[in-house]
This record gives sequence, structure tokens and C-alpha cells, in this order.
Amino acid sequence: MKKKITIAIVGCGVIAPTHIKSFQLHKDTEVKWACDLMVDKARRLAQIHAIECTTQDYRELLDDSDVDCVAICTDHSSHSPIAVDALDAGKHVLCEKALGATREGMDAMCAAHQRNPELVFSGVFQHRFDHSIRTLRRAVSDGALGTLLNAGVQLRCLRTDEYYHGDAWRGTWQEEGGSVLINQSIHFIDALLWIVGGASQVCGAYANITHAGAIETEDCAAAALRLNCGALGTLEATSSSHLGWEPTLSLHGVRGSIEFRNGELIKSRFENPDDAEMLIQELECGEQAQGVACGKDYYGTGHPAQIADFLDAVRGGREPFISGEDARHAVDVVLGIYDSHEKNRWVPVRKPTADAVSCC
Ligand SMILES: NC(=O)c1ccc[n+]([C@@H]2O[C@H](COP(=O)([O-])OP(=O)(O)OC[C@H]3O[C@@H](n4cnc5c(N)ncnc54)[C@H](O)[C@@H]3O)[C@@H](O)[C@H]2O)c1
Repeated sequence: MKKKITIAIVGCGVIAPTHIKSFQLHKDTEVKWACDLMVDKARRLAQIHAIECTTQDYRELLDDSDVDCVAICTDHSSHSPIAVDALDAGKHVLCEKALGATREGMDAMCAAHQRNPELVFSGVFQHRFDHSIRTLRRAVSDGALGTLLNAGVQLRCLRTDEYYHGDAWRGTWQEEGGSVLINQSIHFIDALLWIVGGASQVCGAYANITHAGAIETEDCAAAALRLNCGALGTLEATSSSHLGWEPTLSLHGVRGSIEFRNGELIKSRFENPDDAEMLIQELECGEQAQGVACGKDYYGTGHPAQIADFLDAVRGGREPFISGEDARHAVDVVLGIYDSHEKNRWVPVRKPTADAVSCC
């Protein structure tokens, strides 16, 4: 009998149960290991989710020949060393966002994948599985908006000092790699870049206005983007907004404009009213994906879909829907904004994968 696909979860904090529950939806899959530096956290999760083995050293589970896949749910700076060791140990890797905290870290991950091209290496961006985000990408690639002029992303959320004091890695350049840009906004920066085909240059600035003393990183940022499709983009983010969680995407082309907030169409106007009607119908007819009942509402419902895709890629020996290489572009853009702030000028962004630009 064919053995089950065996999973190890590294990092047993807030997001880990969403991964475990999503993997456990698949009958041919077993979550065998829970690993955390704080081993009590691993033991607690193992008990709740009937996981056989626990450890505080991820190298122990890499030595287990049963383990096929490692899901990385740790702080940003540890993603790279864990992914490199896992790939070199012959394990498929699913890594939470942000793929890495530095370019060097992400280079090392991609190099490890190049050394082991038969393995699946995927980066989490669960909102790319949202029907609404896919519909927007299709509207752009099908030309419904015509040539794009402007594309914008705004992320408002509220993160208190207590949130940052809860875990030592948050609010640090070393371990989180930034804050509102690289952590909360990155989902929607990725969504926008995926919809429009990536960016080639950024110019931006950041500040810490309300969390000074609590964190060393940014609580607000603004940037301009030169997009590969020729349009100009803007980005605005703050983690000190009383609006709570409010991501907004706007797309303006010569044939139509769309504003989209929290997964809902706020406004659209098209040269041809039939195009507007088609978009509204397409948005409405999408099936509501099922999330897993353990994540926060704003995680959305994409984790089960992304994990199903990852497992299918492992079973079929194919590329995942979001490769690690693809998942780094949003991080490269964010790191570009930090650089631009320091250098006080536009900076180039590493080219995204061919797949990312195929829509424009
Ligand atoms: N996709 C999403 O919607 C979403 C939501 C929340 C968090 N995340 C991402 O998930 C990751 C984890 O976030 P979180 O909120 O669960 O953090 P967390 O602090 O709650 O949990 C992280 C855990 O990793 C452990 N850890 C750190 N280094 C380790 C190592 N070398 N070996 C074993 N364990 C280690 C820590 O002890 C901690 O328990 C981050 O990358 C974060 O950005 C994604």
C-alpha cells in the first residue's frame, strides 16, 4: 500500500493550526511532526491535532525518512535556513509569507531549490486563490480595462503595542524584516503585483509614528511603483488605523476603472457597460471557498486551496501554483521600498518570474 504523504510543521504559533487543519482535510496525508523552539507549544498542538511526534530541533524531523514535506510557520528570518536545510534533505517545502526577510536569504532558498529541482517549493499567498483576486487578474489580462494607467494598493490595519510585545520577533528588523509592509500589507502587494504583472522600480518612504519605543520598524509607508505593464502604481499602508483590516485595490485603465475593498467591488465604471455587467456577474458567480475554522477572519479562505494545490503538485511532480521563486517578488518590492527610503531615490526591483508577467 502506498504510504501517506507525511508532513512536518515547523513553528507552532498562530498560523500553524490553519496549516494542520488544511493538511488534515486530505485522507492520503498525515501530519506526523510538530516542531517549535518552545517545545511546549509543539506538544500542545500535537495533543489537539493528534500529531505523533514533537521536537524543538527541526533537524530531527529532517532525519526522518518518512517525512515528505515541511511546512514552515516560523518568524520571517528563520524561513531561509529551515527551507534550505529541508530542500537539501530532500523534503518538499511550503513556506509562509513573507518568503524571507532578506534578499540573501531568499537567494539561498532559490539556490537550494535549483540544486533539488525535483522537489516542490511553494510560498504561501493564499489570497491568490480568492475568486475575486483571480477575477481581477483575468479582467486585466483579457483587456477589459484596456491599457492600464494606474494601479493602487492601500492597507489599513490596527496593531497595538501589546500585539508587538506578544512575540519577540515582531517589530524587529532582524527577525520580522520590517512590519506593516513585509507582514500585513504583503498579501495585497502580492495580489496587486500578480494582477498587473509585477514592478521594475520603486520609490518609497516609511516612518514609525505611533509605535516608537515599542518597535524599531515601520508603522506606516507610502511608495510609487513603476509597473512592468507600463502603468504607474501607488502603495499606502498603516498599522495604526482605526478602520481595522481594510485592504483596497484600485485599477484604472483607458476602458474602465475598478475599486475593490475587503474582497468586495466598491465601484466600477467601464466605457462599455456590458463589460461592467460581465465583471459583476463573474464576481458574484464565484463559489465561496471553505476556510478552516481556526484562522482569523482576515486570513480569508485560501489556505485549504493553496495546501490542496501544494499536495497535488507533490503527488503529480508538477510546479505548484505559487512557486517560491514567484512568491519572492512581493518581498523584493518591499525590500526595495526600505532601500529607497535609505537612499532617498528610485531603486530597481529584481525581475519577477516569467509567469508573473504573463498577464500584461
Ligand atoms: N498567511 C497568513 O494569513 C498568515 C497569518 C499569520 C501569520 N503568517 C505568517 O506565518 C509565520 C508565523 O507567524 P505566526 O503569527 O504563527 O507567529 P508566532 O510567533 O505565533 O509563531 C511562530 C513560532 O515559530 C517558532 N519558531 C521560530 N523559529 C523556530 C525554529 N527555528 N524552529 C522551530 N520553531 C521556531 C516560535 O517559537 C513560535 O512559536 C510568519 O511568517 C507570518 O508572517 C501568515
